[in-house]
Amino acid sequence: MNIQDIFESMEYGPAPESDAEAQAWLEGRGRSLGHFINGTFTEAGTVFESRNPATGAVLAKVTQANGADVTAAVTAARKAQPRWAALGGHKRARFLYALARLLQKHARLFAVLETLDNGKPIRESRDIDIPLAQRHFYYHAGMAQLMEEELPGRVPLGVCGQIIPWNFPLLMLAWKVAPAIAMGNTVVLKPAEYTPLTALLFGQICQEAGLPAGVVNIVTGDGAVGEMIVGAEVDKIAFTGSTAVGRAIRSATAGSGKSLTLELGGKSPYIVFEDADLDSAIEGLVDAIWFNQGQVCCAGSRLLVQEGIADRFHTKLKARMDRLRIGDPLDKCIDVGALVDPVQLDTVTRLVTEGAKQGDLYQPSGTLPDGCFYPPTLITGLEPADTLMQEEIFGPVLVSTTFRTPAEALEIANNTRYGLAASVWSENVNLALDIAPKLTAGVVWVNSTNLFDAAAGFGGVRESGFGREGGWEGLLAYTRAGDVPARAKPVAPCAAPADPSRDDPLDRTAKMFIGGKQSRPDSGYSRAIWSQKGVLLGHVGEGNRKDIRNAVEAASKAAAWAGTSGHLRAQILYYVAENLSARAAEFARRIDDLTGKKGGKAEVEAAIDLLFTHAAWADKFDGAAKGVPLRGLALAVNEPVGVIGAICPPDRPLLGLISAMGPAMAMGNRVVLVPSDAFPLVATDFYQVLETSDVPAGVVNIVTGGQGSLSADIASHLDVDAVWNLSTPDLDQGIEAASAGNLKRTWCAGIGGGTSGREVLAQATEVRTVWVPYGE
Ligand code: NAI
Repeated sequence: MNIQDIFESMEYGPAPESDAEAQAWLEGRGRSLGHFINGTFTEAGTVFESRNPATGAVLAKVTQANGADVTAAVTAARKAQPRWAALGGHKRARFLYALARLLQKHARLFAVLETLDNGKPIRESRDIDIPLAQRHFYYHAGMAQLMEEELPGRVPLGVCGQIIPWNFPLLMLAWKVAPAIAMGNTVVLKPAEYTPLTALLFGQICQEAGLPAGVVNIVTGDGAVGEMIVGAEVDKIAFTGSTAVGRAIRSATAGSGKSLTLELGGKSPYIVFEDADLDSAIEGLVDAIWFNQGQVCCAGSRLLVQEGIADRFHTKLKARMDRLRIGDPLDKCIDVGALVDPVQLDTVTRLVTEGAKQGDLYQPSGTLPDGCFYPPTLITGLEPADTLMQEEIFGPVLVSTTFRTPAEALEIANNTRYGLAASVWSENVNLALDIAPKLTAGVVWVNSTNLFDAAAGFGGVRESGFGREGGWEGLLAYTRAGDVPARAKPVAPCAAPADPSRDDPLDRTAKMFIGGKQSRPDSGYSRAIWSQKGVLLGHVGEGNRKDIRNAVEAASKAAAWAGTSGHLRAQILYYVAENLSARAAEFARRIDDLTGKKGGKAEVEAAIDLLFTHAAWADKFDGAAKGVPLRGLALAVNEPVGVIGAICPPDRPLLGLISAMGPAMAMGNRVVLVPSDAFPLVATDFYQVLETSDVPAGVVNIVTGGQGSLSADIASHLDVDAVWNLSTPDLDQGIEAASAGNLKRTWCAGIGGGTSGREVLAQATEVRTVWVPYGE
């Protein structure tokens, strides 16, 4: 090829990055690697091969951990944790800073090793993965430094088990390890079996940084090792990976008291309106779906393009696809590298071969290199319900459909069981910012895509998991309140007297409260409630699954509550407090009769105080504008979770009810409350207060009955977004196991003197991160 040819074809020559240093590092370790436990590398045990997916070459043999290895790692982490936490924020910050510096110092070695092990283009590992991993350690060095000042009263959780995937091996390690150790936890981390090498190199820089032994432990192996970590004596599991495994981990940890965050799959929409800057949107799409060969949980894998521009857009897109360069990931001119493993190549090939029959498939011509390569692929003409529009492919495959109106775009975009991310492209700021909050997604990019930063929270809703990584919000997942209120203890209802006699001939069967109306129990059964003195106070309905269904339906219909202003919600909560105050004496008497104690007056006062607290917060639990080192702002917006089912404490029947209802309502959620089993009449009296306080129908629903069965009904309902168990801990297991169905959030806690403070507000909200262009 002469210079004239080059000018005409504009072909790039190869620009290979040397892998000599990475190969030398592997050679130096005999290409045989053990675990990193308690600050030292163990001898290799039973090994498996880690291969370069671009060439098939064996890079190293890596150890499959056994039970003893996992126990040794957890024991080391447990032993190191108190001293690590006691070091204080500043000393921990210095270690995190040292790790960040060492990641910078060895940046190219990490980048090349990552590319060898994973198959991603060196351009990406060098310019994205490794710099973002460094940024995570820098940022969290700052979080360690500020912890005592900015997170007063928060303490570390203890030992964190962390299980990460293969698509961003070092970056996912950074996302997990940096916040955990910044907050004073110690970790046992398992990299994915396809990509363990940079994690082990990270072990080496932990040694170089002089990190105390046991603070970071890395064990390698497959899913069986992951299962062992999940079952080990750890205080928290943080998982990123497939929804199926996330669900299994949710079930396995149910009732164990282990804290859990799950960052799972997605099928994120990429919406292009007809007034978008089409060339930018095309370039964005390259980053959305061909970045990392599409093996990105938040990949913009579902293109939604407005009908009027669809043909033009697809034509431009195909032309751009034709120019993507596929090949040796170590070549600096390569756009698309290799998939991680032949297994993944098979999965993508099978999904496309089976699914593309319904649509039109486009792949650029040209032969692919040998190895795990798959061509950039576009499939048009699919219907929203087609498999490829719904299932995560996790490869360089874009599916596309069209829409006519913004409303239709939203309908298609939200027609998914996932809710991780979304991109919106329009030059009309009003349109883009109108659509952004209506998308079901934890992260929304406006006129951009796949932007990440340590300061910006990342995480999903629905089956994309729960919990956030990054920012202040990410630290909630690695700390807890130092002063945790004790869990509720069971309370027996007052027994019927030996010779039950009614002193009141009137029927006093309290109904339930569903959709703003009093409603009889579906079961047709009710239960007598006696006072401590043996007087019949009334009957309450025995709620069942059908009543829960009706209540959830009513709550779902009241979705407009989520769109009300904090100011309005505050006014309504103050009004509830005022009306409760007007009937304070009656409620106090009722509580005293039921409990046989003299605490009624104080409990009513505490409930009114708490309502004021939540009314106060309704318009003050603000989000943040994160200064990210990219053009734009990442807005952290606190949004309601949706429909919350709350199992109220068995004692303090009024305060317990308000403790769940107040914060949920204040943040814009709708609630289905299951009141105290023993003293439900306080709750049924309370709906008369709600009826007179302008609370819209369906925002608060009250179903009386056995908390055991009703909590399971709520936790398994697919339209419930979160379950709070403020009642006894024996219900936790059933609730958390049933919650695995749609991976709803759960919160099992004691209420102490009532749910005030930021913890409960965080439970009542989801942080949506919206990236908007801002400034130059
Ligand atoms: P995976 O979810 O099986 O693997 C992720 C991690 O979990 C690995 O470290 C693995 O060893 C571990 N693991 C597997 N089974 C486990 C268990 N029962 N208990 C504890 N840990 C376990 O993902 P896989 O099989 O590698 O990929 C399959 C599909 O998952 C992909 O095609 C993609 O759709 C999705 N995926 C999503 C990711 C994301 O970032 N959301 C990342 C990786 C995969």
